[in-house]
Amino acid sequence: MSNKDEYLLKVEHLKQYFPVQQGFRKVPLKAVDDVSFAIKPGETLGLVGESGCGKTTVGRTLLRLYEPTAGKITFDGDVIFDSGEEYDEKGNVIVGADGKPIRHKKIDENMLPYRRKMQMVFQDPYSSLNPRMTVEDIIGEPLDVHKLYSTKAERREKILELMELVGLNAEHAMRYAHEFSGGQRQRIGIARALAVNPKFIVCDEAVSALDVSIQAQVINMFEDIQKKLGVAYLFIAHDLLVVHHISDRIAVMYLGKVMEIADADELNENPIHPYTLSLLSAVPIPDPETARKSKRIVLEGDVPSPLRMPSGCPFRTRCKYATEQCAKERPQLTDRGNGHMVACWNK
Ligand SMILES: Nc1ncnc2c1ncn2[C@@H]1O[C@H](COP(=O)(O)OP(=O)(O)OP(=O)(O)O)[C@@H](O)[C@H]1O
Ligand SMILES: [Mg+2]
Repeated sequence: MSNKDEYLLKVEHLKQYFPVQQGFRKVPLKAVDDVSFAIKPGETLGLVGESGCGKTTVGRTLLRLYEPTAGKITFDGDVIFDSGEEYDEKGNVIVGADGKPIRHKKIDENMLPYRRKMQMVFQDPYSSLNPRMTVEDIIGEPLDVHKLYSTKAERREKILELMELVGLNAEHAMRYAHEFSGGQRQRIGIARALAVNPKFIVCDEAVSALDVSIQAQVINMFEDIQKKLGVAYLFIAHDLLVVHHISDRIAVMYLGKVMEIADADELNENPIHPYTLSLLSAVPIPDPETARKSKRIVLEGDVPSPLRMPSGCPFRTRCKYATEQCAKERPQLTDRGNGHMVACWNK
């Protein structure tokens, strides 16, 4: 495989700042603040972290539902966005004599050719499907929009193929979305996302609203589809167990930043960042003996508001290992071996 094709998606220094009103002035809410990762074709990257840490914003910005504030996005061999900043090896923006960033030319590709290749599946299967449309119409809509058939028969055949792929019966085609359960609705949503043959799907809490027993079925379906079609996923969820099951690698976010990223098993068995340890401590352990022996870290205090971001390391205000250096300088992700990346001064 050539270097160009090694990654399907590469994200570098991605920032998403939302201007929010505070008193008389607008201040930037740093929802995503310098996030970098890459996803290979057919791979699943899990994305975890507490509510409000910026997971959804990462997904929506990648699909350009939001205009990125800064960063570089390479997809399927093409740079589709590049705000043009240059970075030094410490991860700081390189500035000129005037204190302003030195930029190369900004690239902002027309997203239309990429739209089809990147899709998103949402959490709430109840609100994301029009209840008054039949399953056939819901799945057929993207086929119509992108003119992906030449005859009515071909359209119908494609719809039935997609339904089979997600485990729906052909008899369901003429039924309305509101007649289905949550798990089945999620299957309809996925069939619709798959209709345009995407190479990458952002699954944002795609199973979080489902009952645990249904969750497992839908996750298996995601895995089967990946095996058949080779599609890559960014799999966003709160639940580390769910994410561990489906992911090849996992990224842990805190206050808009990636704190740790590693192979799923490696992250689970040898977590390094204190924040990851605390997240893993919160996962219930079924065996009481194991639970008693495990050294649990219980997090104190709340996540600070992204409008009052701590200096240096964003986690330091809740971290028992924090030192002066943590307040001064933000740690960059560094490789601790085999691509296990951690952003921490002390671990
Ligand atoms: N459109 C917006 N305008 C302003 N602020 C926003 C906007 N969208 C998100 N935010 C803020 O950005 C931060 C990250 O939000 P985001 O929804 O990405 O978090 P999340 O990790 O997906 O959380 P959850 O687990 O609850 O879904 C939050 O502080 C949120 O309030
Ligand atoms: Mg979210």
